[in-house]
Amino acid sequence: MDKFSIEGSKTLHGSVDISGSKNAALPIIAATILCNKPCTINNVPDLADIVTMLKLLENMGCQYSFSNNSLKIDCSKLQSTKAEYDLVRKMRASILVLGPLVTKYSQAIVSLPGGCAIGVRPVNLHIDALKAMGAKINIEQGYVHANAKKLKGAEIYFDTPTVTGTENIIMAATLADGKTTIYNAAKEPEVVDLANFLNKCGAKISGAGSSTIEIIGVDTLKGSEYEVMPDRIEAGTFMCIAHATRSSITINNAPLYCMHSIIDKIQEAGADIHIKNDNTVVVSHSKFLPVDIKTFVYPGFPTDMQAQFTAMLTLAQGTSIIEETIFENRFQHVAELNRMGANITISGNKAIVNGVKVLYGAPVMATDLRASASLVIAALAAENTTEVLRIYHLDRGYEFLDKKLQKLGAKIKRLPQ
Ligand code: EPZ
Repeated sequence: MDKFSIEGSKTLHGSVDISGSKNAALPIIAATILCNKPCTINNVPDLADIVTMLKLLENMGCQYSFSNNSLKIDCSKLQSTKAEYDLVRKMRASILVLGPLVTKYSQAIVSLPGGCAIGVRPVNLHIDALKAMGAKINIEQGYVHANAKKLKGAEIYFDTPTVTGTENIIMAATLADGKTTIYNAAKEPEVVDLANFLNKCGAKISGAGSSTIEIIGVDTLKGSEYEVMPDRIEAGTFMCIAHATRSSITINNAPLYCMHSIIDKIQEAGADIHIKNDNTVVVSHSKFLPVDIKTFVYPGFPTDMQAQFTAMLTLAQGTSIIEETIFENRFQHVAELNRMGANITISGNKAIVNGVKVLYGAPVMATDLRASASLVIAALAAENTTEVLRIYHLDRGYEFLDKKLQKLGAKIKRLPQ
């Protein structure tokens, strides 16, 4: 288990290249189960979650080689349709194999993911939708047992626009019999990236990115070569790093087209944003203003950016109100930030962030992926040295973050805990 040792208050400079999106790569890798030929997926980030997904598929009989962010994968001859608990518990996104397995192999046994630090994380919407498409589903000893001779197209309405729920049903519907329409679908850009990959493989998906998605089932899907979109959450995290450390950095390969809410809020917090072209932005600090944030489904402000903004706004001149509307327990970073001298109080699903002049280094504990990113941001801005423990949480979703920060001039070291 590793930790980071970070010497704070260093002004950063230079440029950083954003990696491929974890939350686009994971469903796309799961979708290769549907293809009857090998696929090449490029710009895949080298992350713990990606390795977990590949192990899960390898245990079912998939073959792959992964180097230099390029994945060559062949899932056309799986010998098993079981996703074991010991891998699923490490990564909730494993539920994304359920839809592809049922529609391609007529059966699946997938461990229920269980909750995680940020919430209960149910998958009832995934299961109800598959039932509406004709799947027989039983929950036995913590596993979802799903069977369907041939899934049938259906009209699916989601109570809440679930991201992986939308992705699961898009994948299930690609080989179903007839047309499936998803109402109140998630509109996240990662859903669009999945649909673009599947259409390149011969699927018939329209409306991805809107709240109504239509999928006409086809008989087979071929293999294809595809490049995963850049990670908007990593790009947003580096914007917070620049502003919190009063630095000016250039962010390359950022998917600016889908970052309007993040850019708008970082500007409101007093950063200067200079957009050089479609995917290059210079973020410079000028003044530190408080900002009110309310997380919402896309295109609203992303919940995956909440912890990073909370950390950054601990130093604003004034009070910020951060409202978390997606997950019920996504303020675990607050207690750790307060140990560094922040002044944050929680009231229900709101964090009231009273700006302070200085944060102080301290040993802090990461609890989940984005909370760990928020502690790194605070550590970079704080006086003295901070140790961030349990950074395996961070390694799940940020590719070589320490190396990227060292290149910007940060004093950060990865040490055995
Ligand atoms: C995806 O999780 C992302 N993960 C999360 O990113 C992200 O925070 C989340 O979407 C919201 O944007 C991946 O894409 C792999 P949801 P997902 O289903 O799909 C409720 C990160 O940091 N819900 O959109 O699991 C649920 O409880 C991770 O990279 C049900 O009630 O999220 C939540 O309140 C963290 N029943 C809300 O919907 C269901 O069946 C949104 O969850 C499914 C969801």
